[in-house]
Amino acid sequence: MKAIIVYDSEYGNTHDVAEAIAAALSHYETVQLLAVPDATNIDWQGVKLLIVGGPTQWRGVSERMHTWLDALPPGSLTGIHAAAFDTRYHGMKLLTGAAAPPIAKRLKELGAEVLLPPESFYVVDAQGPLANGELERASRWALLTPAGVQEE
Ligand SMILES: Cc1cc2nc3c(=O)[nH]c(=O)nc-3n(C[C@H](O)[C@H](O)[C@H](O)COP(=O)(O)O)c2cc1C
Repeated sequence: MKAIIVYDSEYGNTHDVAEAIAAALSHYETVQLLAVPDATNIDWQGVKLLIVGGPTQWRGVSERMHTWLDALPPGSLTGIHAAAFDTRYHGMKLLTGAAAPPIAKRLKELGAEVLLPPESFYVVDAQGPLANGELERASRWALLTPAGVQEE
């Protein structure tokens, strides 16, 4: 049973969240943490869970994450459970925008079964740091994937 976490990160904050998520998923036999744009030629065989996260930039998905998502072939995520997160300023989503909802939408289009609502983790400033407690919240969020997914 394999989990893959793919992330983009300009200043390291989304990387830190992705790393906390990877650590929380230790019940998976294999957990791969991959940064775009290097997350190419992924072997989807045996992948049960895909978590994709990126920084919110200009109210949406970063350029690199966009390119990565666009390059995935149609149907490539069929049968894979997925979830999306972003990092952004703490504020009304209407004002800040958020990358996770469009990421989740794209994962669905590619055939994934998106298990959780898109989630945001907050930075204090553009370059960070993350707000207090966000890494712990990210670990807890990763474990919200239904028990059935963990046990299969
Ligand atoms: C070019 C740029 C545009 C940004 N636009 C937004 C935005 O529209 N909304 C928001 O909440 N944060 C915005 N931010 C802040 C980023 O979300 C923040 O830099 C990011 O969460 C940090 O994650 P990282 O360290 O992984 O890059 C922007 C940052 C940059 C550099």
